[in-house]
Amino acid sequence: MEFSIKSGSPEKQRSACIVVGVFEPRKLSSAAERLDAASKGYISDIVRRGDMEGKSGRTLLLHNVPGILADRVLLVGLGREKDFREREYREAVRAAVKTLDETGAFEGTIYLTEVALRRRDIAWRVRQAAMVSAETVYRFDAMKSKKDEVRRPLRKLTLMVERRNELPAAEKAMHEGEAVGSGVALARDLGNLPGNVCTPTYLAERAKTLASETGLECEVLERARCEELGMGSFLSVANGSRQPPKFIVFHHRGGRPDEKPVVLVGKGITFDTGGISLKPGEGMDEMKFDMCGAASVFGAFKAIAALKLPLNVVGLVPATENMPGGAATKPGDIVTTMSGQTVEILNTDAEGRLILCDALTYAERYNPAAVIDIATLTGACVIALGHVAAGLYSNSDPLAREVLAAGESAHDRAWHMPLWDDYQEQLKSNFADMANIGGRPAGSVTAACFLSRYAKKFDWAHLDIAGVAWKSGAAKGATGRPVPLLVQFLLGRAGA
Ligand code: BES
Ligand code: MN
Ligand code: ZN
Repeated sequence: MEFSIKSGSPEKQRSACIVVGVFEPRKLSSAAERLDAASKGYISDIVRRGDMEGKSGRTLLLHNVPGILADRVLLVGLGREKDFREREYREAVRAAVKTLDETGAFEGTIYLTEVALRRRDIAWRVRQAAMVSAETVYRFDAMKSKKDEVRRPLRKLTLMVERRNELPAAEKAMHEGEAVGSGVALARDLGNLPGNVCTPTYLAERAKTLASETGLECEVLERARCEELGMGSFLSVANGSRQPPKFIVFHHRGGRPDEKPVVLVGKGITFDTGGISLKPGEGMDEMKFDMCGAASVFGAFKAIAALKLPLNVVGLVPATENMPGGAATKPGDIVTTMSGQTVEILNTDAEGRLILCDALTYAERYNPAAVIDIATLTGACVIALGHVAAGLYSNSDPLAREVLAAGESAHDRAWHMPLWDDYQEQLKSNFADMANIGGRPAGSVTAACFLSRYAKKFDWAHLDIAGVAWKSGAAKGATGRPVPLLVQFLLGRAGA
């Protein structure tokens, strides 16, 4: 979808559809009032009759409104003015774009960006509008033999600002929102692909294509190279699989050559059966989403490349399947990680940490400014935080605050969880330096504790995205989270 920014009166816009807000109960926003004046009370008449009360997310499409240049007017409910917050704003944009996409209009002009929102400036409103719009028109039909045919899909949106002096900030925010939107779409596409298509080899190929399309650099370390590096833990997860593991490395060189990079690490389990500690059958199909951390790294790199972010960023994606088989790792097996520390694998289903620990050790070679890993790591995190917030763990409070603030600002939120040493004792092993599981209590915390043992040499944050990376049920599909958080974090680091 294409976006543009403009300023001007709604009655004077030549557009297939003008979108304006109505507060509850029946109170016109200022753009709606201007249309009402131009149409000599046409809008207020309809609202007075009770056809649009202003309830959040409701829409009413009007044709042939007199006195204006546009073909249609779409009224969008905003809820009560005193309760109008980020959530309601996003809901209004979503409802508007969904309706536009379903009508014959292939283009629209949105005045919702003009509605004031406490503590959120025009840049925020425009960025979010672009992101939410892209998210709303997203479709995944790559695997259907007949593509969903939308008669005239929505192609172009004009986002309106009230004052001309807001144009430069709004333009910049629009590009950011667009870039995040395309990163989110990429992450969703990769997440939604089935495990038989989206294999480690497939991810490596997509990484190379992404790099050649965007000017990123990409290397893929094959099994032999990983063996030389001593990635015994990563490779032990790949033992049961027919698919060769791949260790993907991205470079975005936007900063000075001597500037320390931010390193993003994404869990790339392209299918998690649990291995010999086999998962129960019900809902196991959703374990194709176990590479959503990796997908978020792809998405973030796509966005920062498009924005030419003045920052050095490295992306690391250890990719493998977790399968049972004659050669698979067994409970009780002990592996030596790249760090030299040994791990007793008491449960082969706790495989995410086993591939991430070697990636964290590999990250040391970049002398990173900060490392953030992103992983669908634990079912326990879903129990703790549900599908609203990602779990955030960090060995640096300033870094944690920075990540939390980025999530807040992108409306892609995380919640700070404890990483106290008291939890470390749950990882004790009688036979190796540590076990790979810490028992039932605080499962998300002990998983983070495990990773922290491989992140001693740099500032590190860990995002457990098990609850937020995809939706189950009727709307089953990848969400593309936390691409918005990651890009916002990097924008902040770049001082942009
Ligand atoms: N990929 C799963 C985590 C997961 C499970 C995410 C369900 C979303 C929904 C991970 O590899 C896993 O299996 N974790 C185990 C760890 C346990 C064996 C300590 C879990 O959470 O059950
Ligand atoms: Mn698992
Ligand atoms: Zn997993």
